Amino acid sequence: MPVTCVIGTQWGDEGKGKIIDLIASRADVVVRYQGGANAGHTVRVGGEQFIFHLIPSGILHGKINVIGNGMVVDPAQLLAEIGECSARGVAVEGNLFVSSLAHLVMPYHKALDRISEGRRGGTALGTTGRGIGPAYADRATRSGIRVAELFHAEHFAARVRANVEEKNRIIAALGGAEQLDAAAIADEYLGHAARLRPFVTDTVRLLRRALAAGRYVFVEGAQGMLLDVDFGTYPFVTSSNSSTFGVAAGSGLPARRIDEVMGVTKCYTTRVGQGPFPTEEAGEVGERLRRAGGEFGATTGRPRRCGWLDGVALRYAVDLLSCDSIALTKVDVLTGFDEIKVCTAYQHDGEILREFPTDPVVMSACRPVYDALPGWTEDTRGARHFADLPRRCREYIDHIESLLGRPVGLVSVGPDRDETIYRYR
Ligand code: IMP
Repeated sequence: MPVTCVIGTQWGDEGKGKIIDLIASRADVVVRYQGGANAGHTVRVGGEQFIFHLIPSGILHGKINVIGNGMVVDPAQLLAEIGECSARGVAVEGNLFVSSLAHLVMPYHKALDRISEGRRGGTALGTTGRGIGPAYADRATRSGIRVAELFHAEHFAARVRANVEEKNRIIAALGGAEQLDAAAIADEYLGHAARLRPFVTDTVRLLRRALAAGRYVFVEGAQGMLLDVDFGTYPFVTSSNSSTFGVAAGSGLPARRIDEVMGVTKCYTTRVGQGPFPTEEAGEVGERLRRAGGEFGATTGRPRRCGWLDGVALRYAVDLLSCDSIALTKVDVLTGFDEIKVCTAYQHDGEILREFPTDPVVMSACRPVYDALPGWTEDTRGARHFADLPRRCREYIDHIESLLGRPVGLVSVGPDRDETIYRYR
C-alpha cells in the first residue's frame, strides 16, 4: 500500500489539518515527522473545532496516529491535548503512539527561545516561542534528552541537572534574569512520565510493520515547504525539514516507499513571523484577506501577514516537493474582490526573475510581477462540484493549475468537512 505525504507548499497555515482529517478516513496510519507544538492544525467537524499542536489530525477518525522520532515533544502540552481529546469523546489510548526517540522540549528551551528572540531585536525571527529551535539545537549538539529517558528516573534527573547547570550559565551570560531549578524540572517531567508511558513505543518498528502488512500510511507535514530549514527562506524558517526531505529521517519510513505527495496550497499567501514576503499586502487588501480568512495564528494568536498568491515561490515549492496534486484551500475567502492577482515573476534590480532566488538578500529585495484576473461576487461555500463554482473562480483555479503544471485535485470552500470539492476521482 502507498505512503502519501500531505505537505504545505507555502509558509505554513495552508489548511493541512482539514485536508488530513478529510482523507484520513482512507488511511490506516497517520504520522507526523517533524516540528512540535509550534504547529496548530485546525479541524472543524459539525461546527465543533479542534486545534492540534502535537497530535496528528487523523485522531478524529480512530486511526493509528504516530508522533515520529523527528518531532520535539513538550510532554505537558501533549498531555493537555490528550486530556482535551478524551474529554470531548475522542479515543486516544490505543490510537496514539509517541516515538521513544523523539526529543523532549524542556523549560530551558523555551527560556532560550525567548532570550534569543529578544536579543535579535529588529532582526528577530518571530518564532512561536515554543522552544523549538533550542530543542533541535540540543539534538544536534548531543545534549538533547529523548522521550525514552523519562523512564529512567535517576538517569533522567542527572541529565536534567547537567543541562540546567549549563543553560543557567548561558542564560546569565546573555543577561537573562531567569535561573531554572533542575530538581523542580526533573520532578515535573518524571510526574508526566507515568501518564505518557502507555503511548510511548518504537514507532519506527510500528511503521515498518504497518507497511509490511500492507497498511496505508499518511504523512502529515507541519509548517510548510518555505519554512524548511534547508530549502526555505533561511534564516526565517523553522528548525526542521518541514518538506518531504525530512520524512524518512523523521519517521523511519523508507524514502523509496513515498509514492504520492499532495501539496496543500492556500489560494492566497500568509506568513507569521518575519522574513521576505514579496506579495505581502500591507494595506486594505491584506486587512480584507486577514478578516475574511480569519488569519490569526492557531498557536500564538498573532495576526498573519497576508498577500496575493506567489506563483514563483509556489512553483519552487511544488517542484522541490515533487507534488503529484494540489489541494487548494480557502477559495471562499476570495469572494467579493474585484480583481485577484497572481505573482508570476519577480522584479529585481531591473531584471525579471522567473525562478525563486535562493539568495536571501536578493529575495528580500524582490518585487512581484502580477497577472490580474477578474474576481467574482458569488458565495462559493455551497459548491460541491467544480461546475458549481462561478466561472471566474474556475478560471482562477485553471490558471493556478497551468502555472504549477499540477492538477488541483481538491478544492476547499469552507472549514467544515463537507465544504469540499473532489475532482478527478
Ligand atoms: P519556530 O518554529 O517557533 O522556531 O518559528 C520559526 C518560524 O516559523 C517563525 O516565523 C514562525 O512564525 C514560523 N512557524 C513555526 N510554526 C509554524 C506554523 O505551524 N505555521 C506557520 N508558521 C510557523
